[in-house]
Amino acid sequence: MLSLRFVFLFAVLSAFAVAAPAEHTHRVKETVLPPRGWTALRPASPAHTIEIRIGLPQPNFAELEDHLYAVSDPSSERYGGHLSKEEVEALVAPHPESVHLVEEWLASHGLLGDALSRSPAGDWVTVRVPVSLAEKMLDTTYHVWTHTASGTSLVRTTSYSLPEHLHAHIDVVQPTTTFSRFTPMRTTYQSFRANAAVPQSDGAKIAVPYASGGQIAASCNGTITPTCLLELYNATGYTPQVPGENKIAVTGYLEQYANYDDYHEFLEELVPYATDSTFSVVYINGKDSRTLRFEFLMVFPGGLNNQTPADAGIEADLDTQYAFSLTYPTPGTFYTTGGSPPFIPDDLEPTDSNEPYMQASESYALVWLEYVLAADDLPQSISTSYGDDEQTVPYSYATRVCSEFAQLGARGVSIMFSSGDGGVGDGDADPATQECYSNDGTNRTIFIPGFPASCPYVTAVGATSEVPEISAWFSGGGFSNYWARPSYQDVAVTKYLGELAPGTYAGLYNASGRAYPDVSAEGVNFTIVWDLETGLVDGTSCSSPTFTAFVSLLNDVRIASGKSALGFLNPLIYALNAGTVTGFNDITVGNNPGCGTEGFNATIGWDPVTGWGSPNFGILKELVLSA
Ligand SMILES: *[C@@H]1O[C@H](CO)[C@@H](O)[C@H](O)[C@H]1NC(C)=O
Ligand SMILES: *[C@@H]1O[C@H](CO)[C@@H](O)[C@H](O)[C@H]1NC(C)=O
Ligand SMILES: *[C@@H]1O[C@H](CO)[C@@H](O)[C@H](O)[C@H]1NC(C)=O
Ligand SMILES: *[C@@H]1O[C@H](CO)[C@@H](O)[C@H](O)[C@H]1NC(C)=O
Ligand SMILES: *[C@@H]1O[C@H](CO)[C@@H](O)[C@H](O)[C@H]1NC(C)=O
Ligand SMILES: *[C@@H]1O[C@H](CO)[C@@H](O)[C@H](O)[C@H]1NC(C)=O
Repeated sequence: MLSLRFVFLFAVLSAFAVAAPAEHTHRVKETVLPPRGWTALRPASPAHTIEIRIGLPQPNFAELEDHLYAVSDPSSERYGGHLSKEEVEALVAPHPESVHLVEEWLASHGLLGDALSRSPAGDWVTVRVPVSLAEKMLDTTYHVWTHTASGTSLVRTTSYSLPEHLHAHIDVVQPTTTFSRFTPMRTTYQSFRANAAVPQSDGAKIAVPYASGGQIAASCNGTITPTCLLELYNATGYTPQVPGENKIAVTGYLEQYANYDDYHEFLEELVPYATDSTFSVVYINGKDSRTLRFEFLMVFPGGLNNQTPADAGIEADLDTQYAFSLTYPTPGTFYTTGGSPPFIPDDLEPTDSNEPYMQASESYALVWLEYVLAADDLPQSISTSYGDDEQTVPYSYATRVCSEFAQLGARGVSIMFSSGDGGVGDGDADPATQECYSNDGTNRTIFIPGFPASCPYVTAVGATSEVPEISAWFSGGGFSNYWARPSYQDVAVTKYLGELAPGTYAGLYNASGRAYPDVSAEGVNFTIVWDLETGLVDGTSCSSPTFTAFVSLLNDVRIASGKSALGFLNPLIYALNAGTVTGFNDITVGNNPGCGTEGFNATIGWDPVTGWGSPNFGILKELVLSA
């Protein structure tokens, strides 16, 4: 199958290579200002290899978006009629002329045949090249840049060019101008607090009208456990009916390993009925994620996910412990992307000449997306607790990543992201003024929306605190500067904005932008086991896997009764909340300070602190059956 296509391709490419490449003048494709906190250290070594991803335009994306809404809007006749992998690929395929011109250009630089790998839809072409060649192709100079506060280093440039005739045929080339760090969404003011004692309930109860039985253990207003969440979100006693048909996954990046010993210790202490639970690890490495090599990708059920206790990640432990125990016995997958993989030699790079700084790259998001989009069988609910400031991700790149989430939604996957832990800011405000600044050259004082939470095709999850719930002070929320408000949230957001006092935060936020979060869940004082110690963590990193677990239980309900999975959730969530029985616990107390302000308020109905609130599974499980 491969060879036929290859023979053909090779013939075509050779023809191009023989023809003398025309001298095309380069014109600047994109220029950015390096975000605050980054400095160029030195020119990148010319021999250093980078993996360049070239995004070709998707001329039929609007049509894909129409299909996405048709299958996700509960009032549509096509609700739940998700698209196949092949249908989605056909809708994002580039124009043949774009493919032809890009291949011609690559061939003129000696890149042909096996040197190219393509996404199944053909909308991404990846080549591995030395920095010296990348600089020639893009008429640019790469530097090693470092983020002073975190020590992260990346090979990047602030500007790159493309031959004039390719501008209309290439959307984006990365890594070039993206300085995003894609960090875990855990609050930075305090990390893991070891406390040896597992919370014990003394039998005291707190009345919570929306919880299972109307009350929950008083200890839950202090430390959260899976039992607290099942009670609070009215799911006590529900047993998944179709584990195996229904699956759940969480993603990890940047050397965050999920530790099995920690997982089992956690289960023994807090979820004793699930001690036989385990999860699979899918290890995705940029170098091996070429489409044609997927069959060689390492999939280790319970394997190669560094188990050295000191390397266990708080984020990875938190995500796996909550997402997988709450949904037991639904099979869980931990996707780990990047990090320091075992070195696998190839033709281009027979020995490991990569410097460690290449291991930290936001293109992990793309690498992961490329992997899952090429897979035939996908988990129906996926949580990611990583993100960065929208403004550190160039628009060209952000729109492509966001469009990949739309593809997953069209295929019936629910995608959840943490909304961020800096309230309306980014946790990186100017220490002197506490203000936050735009990075577009104008240096305006603005709120800082987070990405990917700001992408309209994902479900952004904010955080709550205490029992009964109020909003968590750090819950990320606000308005995108990249995406306009999608119609599914028009009524809700217009209502919220109409109730703000006139002139509130004028100029600090973009009232016409996609507003987030969509929903929320507890995010303070989660009991986890890390490095075999019990302790507490906070953040929307707790909220996203928690909300995702309840989505997975709802998918179980749907699939068990012969219905499709829920897929892209937002049109359903906003439609349910327009009704009288919503299935959500509205959070109306609290606010999300940031950038030297008090932030927005949690209010009756949707708000940019907690969205529609937290889930009531018992109610939702009836509602999703009639959707
Ligand atoms: C829950 O705990 C908070 C302190 O964290 C306290 O202010 C509040 O009164 C408690 N709520 C109840 C119902 O006990
Ligand atoms: C979180 O735990 C700390 C003790 O570690 C406690 O002081 C605080 O009230 C708790 N907060 C909530 C919201 O439960
Ligand atoms: C932006 O403005 C603030 C406040 O006026 C100033 O402190 C900061 O240095 C400026 N940043 C840039 C990059 O100009
Ligand atoms: C506000 O958002 C819209 C998209 O909704 C965008 O076109 C516009 O550029 C944004 N304005 C600013 C100042 O970022
Ligand atoms: C939040 O509520 C407080 C108290 O009602 C009010 O003073 C403040 O103006 C509100 N803030 C916003 C952004 O609506
Ligand atoms: C909890 O869910 C059950 C259905 O499982 C429902 O009958 C009950 O009303 C719900 N409780 C609350 C407090 O919403």
